[in-house]
Amino acid sequence: MRFISLAAFSLAALTAASPVAVFNKPIDVASPPPPSIHKIQGQGQGRHFGPAVALEENGSDDHKKRPPRVNVTTWFESYHRSDEIRQYFLQLAEDYHDLVTFVPHLARTHEGREVYAVKISAKGRGSRDKPQVWIQALQHAREWATATTAQYLAHHFTSKYGKSSNVTNILNSAEIIIIPNMNPDGYEFSWDVDRIWRKNRRNNGNGIYGVDLNRNWPDHWGNGGSSTDPDAENYGGPYANSEPEVRGLINFFKAQRRVLGTVDLHTHGQLILRPQGYTNVSSPHETEMKHVGDTMAQVIKGVHGMDYTSVRLNEISPLLTSGSTVDWFYGDQATRANGGQRPYSFAFELRPSPEGSEGGKIGFILPIEEVIPLGEEIAAAMEYFVDYVVKNPLKEK
Ligand SMILES: *[C@@H]1O[C@H](CO)[C@@H](O)[C@H](O)[C@H]1NC(C)=O
Ligand SMILES: *[C@@H]1O[C@H](CO)[C@@H](O)[C@H](O)[C@H]1NC(C)=O
Ligand SMILES: *[C@@H]1O[C@H](CO)[C@@H](O)[C@H](O)[C@H]1NC(C)=O
Ligand SMILES: *[C@@H]1O[C@H](CO)[C@@H](O)[C@H](O)[C@H]1NC(C)=O
Ligand SMILES: [Zn+2]
Repeated sequence: MRFISLAAFSLAALTAASPVAVFNKPIDVASPPPPSIHKIQGQGQGRHFGPAVALEENGSDDHKKRPPRVNVTTWFESYHRSDEIRQYFLQLAEDYHDLVTFVPHLARTHEGREVYAVKISAKGRGSRDKPQVWIQALQHAREWATATTAQYLAHHFTSKYGKSSNVTNILNSAEIIIIPNMNPDGYEFSWDVDRIWRKNRRNNGNGIYGVDLNRNWPDHWGNGGSSTDPDAENYGGPYANSEPEVRGLINFFKAQRRVLGTVDLHTHGQLILRPQGYTNVSSPHETEMKHVGDTMAQVIKGVHGMDYTSVRLNEISPLLTSGSTVDWFYGDQATRANGGQRPYSFAFELRPSPEGSEGGKIGFILPIEEVIPLGEEIAAAMEYFVDYVVKNPLKEK
């Protein structure tokens, strides 16, 4: 008989005083934990496992398929693969079941992997009515530090609820949606075969693979800055919205209530990008979005002194960029699907700076010791962002 030893650590254990009182809120029955999450035999009360709870691996209970718990104490000391990251978020949903809902099966990739999300909000406080903010990562496979940032943000907002008044207010009044790994096929390929792989893994025929997901979104698709050559890094796909990863996220977006802001995480270059990409013309909300982008840059600088540049996408990319998320979320399709509410839409290029990247390729390999400082500065920016957009939704002009 084989036994799995479950880690004695939980995410909550990372933080000293456990805010048990704040977590005793009623659970939103409308969003039960997914079927894959079950209470562990012997867990007892609270979210801390006793030392090494042993489970029968082949037991008849549903939890027999549970992978071992991740060790959160050492989690940010290395990069992790898709399966482990998924387990990290499943565990987060279990450890913070009154804050986190794991949403499975948003998309099934070409190679059969799952794209999933987590929703983070104080569930006892009317989460069904709350405005939402959307944060997605790993659209480009090689941009590993976007994944660690998504993990860090989830850690930040869960572990600080009930301790930081800012985080508590944010989760009481808003819901944060995180899609931590929207291109798992490309991500796994970047581990196994080609560290600087960017696209997904669509089979384009003739031994050529991949669509640039960030040129596949159905807003002014193919309008410039994307390629029709299947071998190109910025191949926009055979048609707009052709890719399961993009389609799945769009359908998930359409199922939301009211998304006030969106952030698409990329590396690298330390930029905060706002619409528009498909045209050189500034968006009608240039003033509002410039204010938010500039303020996020200031907030980030206040954390570890890093300089991020706040610019329009078309300023750094004069040859234009079409079919990207930053335009889709700001565009008319998303706005219609969002009950007429146009979201603030940003794309971040995270660390390192252009100077720190040694000509580009190495910029995708962020030294592991920068993962937490990067997470901290983006968490501060996201605290500001969520708070601001909830109080100042974009108005139509
Ligand atoms: C987690 O990692 C820490 C630091 O290496 C270690 O002390 C601890 O034993 C680990 N926990 C488990 C359950 O493996
Ligand atoms: C687990 O497997 C062992 C040996 O393979 C078997 O003896 C045992 O009955 C199984 N337990 C359950 C609960 O199925
Ligand atoms: C809380 O938010 C306010 C307003 O955004 C900000 O000035 C302050 O620094 C934040 N406090 C912490 C501890 O982050
Ligand atoms: C966009 O504007 C910049 C200067 O504002 C210019 O250099 C660039 O050529 C323009 N691009 C297009 C596609 O018109
Ligand atoms: Zn990117």
